[in-house]
Amino acid sequence: MGIHQGEESMSIVSRKSDHIRIVLEEDVDFRGKATGFQEYDFVHCALPELDYSEVSTEVTFLGKSLTFPLMISAMTGGCPDALVINEMLAELIQAEGLAIGVGSQRPMADESRYKESYRIVREKAPDRVIVGNVGAAQIARMEKPDSVKRMVEVIQANAMAVHLNPLQECLQPEGDRDFTGVLRGIEDLVRALEVPVMVKEVGCGISQEVAERLANVGVQYIDVAGAGGTSWAAVESFRQKDTDLAGRFRDWGLPTAISLKEVTGVRGIHAIASGGIRDGQTMAKALALGAEICGAAAPFLRVLSEGGVDALRKTVQEWRESLKMVLFLTGSRSIDQIRRPGVIYFKGRDAAKREVTPGEK
Ligand SMILES: Cc1cc2nc3c(=O)[nH]c(=O)nc-3n(C[C@H](O)[C@H](O)[C@H](O)COP(=O)(O)O)c2cc1C
Repeated sequence: MGIHQGEESMSIVSRKSDHIRIVLEEDVDFRGKATGFQEYDFVHCALPELDYSEVSTEVTFLGKSLTFPLMISAMTGGCPDALVINEMLAELIQAEGLAIGVGSQRPMADESRYKESYRIVREKAPDRVIVGNVGAAQIARMEKPDSVKRMVEVIQANAMAVHLNPLQECLQPEGDRDFTGVLRGIEDLVRALEVPVMVKEVGCGISQEVAERLANVGVQYIDVAGAGGTSWAAVESFRQKDTDLAGRFRDWGLPTAISLKEVTGVRGIHAIASGGIRDGQTMAKALALGAEICGAAAPFLRVLSEGGVDALRKTVQEWRESLKMVLFLTGSRSIDQIRRPGVIYFKGRDAAKREVTPGEK
């Protein structure tokens, strides 16, 4: 795939291209911290009393049906590689019945020529859930919500995500570190948009306290994007050769499983689990712990880059099949049923220990 084309003068565009290149070429995962899902296990059901062919992985999300609860998390838009990547991702989600989040739409607000790299997603995936994306710092300084309304229109978004990335902004030399007014900006968006507002992190997780503040201003969807997968501090450390500050923050953040438990405890919030989700079994754990759907970013970019759309289709189908097997092997006919008490247990670091907390989700 030709994804290292041309040079661009706008720093945001070259930054976006840098991110893609670094994620593809370097090891950017958390090093000393995992998602936390490895400390949970399923109670094997030797007597499922189900016909495997009737086990269903389908869910409804944002009013549309998904063949299984997976979203390709926000990655690209607004850089030379984005058009081709987004076109391929959109064709895949249309064919496989998934959801997608587009990358930050800020370049679109600055330069209309980048619109096409976002618009293509709706063109190629007319029937699917598409989530828009805008940054916290941009929202804080938004005078009127008109530019965000245009972002929604261009992709006919089913929801608009605001990404909270304070660590990333601290580490980027050109970062915007003024996070005052972000909550108020989110509240304004909740009021102004006709679609729900989703708030997401980018790999450091969201705590219960933050989730409660978001719920209080009307946010209904939170994508935890927790620690244990792609580390943005690691990505930044590869961009900055002259300092190791970013490297020192490589393992910063709330692990995804912990963040998920905190966020699902907040009334009125639909939780999306992402950050280090790398297979169907981990997806199943996140769903059993209360996630409505799961998301993943870097692994799909890597598979796409190495093997193209066919390889990505195969990966997605494998994830779906292993999720379906976990449903069967836990005696669950549907995704809803895997959330019933007693299906998953916390084993901690000791694989021989089993503590099922009655009613624990
Ligand atoms: C190349 C790349 C670009 C990304 N760009 C964005 C972005 O523009 N907006 C956003 O909200 N998150 C962005 N993310 C973060 C992802 O949506 C996700 O939250 C994070 O990578 C953790 O998921 P993972 O461990 O599956 O990669 C990006 C991730 C990657 C790999």
